[in-house]
Amino acid sequence: MVQLKGDEKARYVATMFDRISSRYDLLNTVMSGGMHHLWRRRAARLATREDQGEALDVATGTGDFALDLALMPGIARVVGLDFAPKMLPLALQKAQRQSLSQQINWMLGDAQSLPFPDGHFLCVTVGFGLRNFSDKEKALREMTRVVRPGGRVVILDIVPLQGNGILQRLQRAYFRGVVPRLGTLVAGNNEAYRYLPDSVDSYLTAPQLVAMMEGVGLQRARYEMMGLGTVALHVGEKG
Ligand SMILES: C[S@@+](CC[C@H](N)C(=O)[O-])C[C@H]1O[C@@H](n2cnc3c(N)ncnc32)[C@H](O)[C@@H]1O
Repeated sequence: MVQLKGDEKARYVATMFDRISSRYDLLNTVMSGGMHHLWRRRAARLATREDQGEALDVATGTGDFALDLALMPGIARVVGLDFAPKMLPLALQKAQRQSLSQQINWMLGDAQSLPFPDGHFLCVTVGFGLRNFSDKEKALREMTRVVRPGGRVVILDIVPLQGNGILQRLQRAYFRGVVPRLGTLVAGNNEAYRYLPDSVDSYLTAPQLVAMMEGVGLQRARYEMMGLGTVALHVGEKG
């Protein structure tokens, strides 16, 4: 599948996430040992600081990142956008359960062509999404366009492992050997969880993503590693 490009890849990815939507949260928790919640919370804090405004979370999926943003002090409203139609009702249900549905609008849309004016949002985030986009640079350009000057673009994702040490080999074995089996057991779908390691291997390394962020005009682009070096949290600011 990794050879798919453009619209074909987009259709493949949207259908795949629709198929696993009802099991997506459970699999995330099992795969990361619950750590994914902490990673997004850290990312939400970095994205928002003390400023006031609206936040946009693209590739929002079942909405966890958008929900974390809605709890940040300066955030008046959040838009959660995704192109897989079956993910968004699950996000809405969670928002209702947490009494946050008034603060969040869920929108069907493509991260590579955002339906918002320039400079509108205080911050724009993407969690475990950029890796899946068919044109990552175009999506980053769009995210940067809609954030206001001084606002932050924050990207959280699994990155390809560097080197061939014992830790890296264990992590590869986990992604290639354990994750697809968990996909079959928990989600009844191993295709999506065979896709995951392929998508990580063909993704940008953390320094390559910094270069792409700078290329689309983000300043002070930087990152920190989490999850034993498997997850990178990138932040950049619009000048
Ligand atoms: C791995 S999930 C991440 C969901 C959520 N952000 C999280 O932190 O758990 C990736 C999501 O990206 C969405 N996605 C992929 N490409 C997209 C695009 N071009 N536009 C909007 N959403 C996209 C998929 O539908 C899926 O819901």
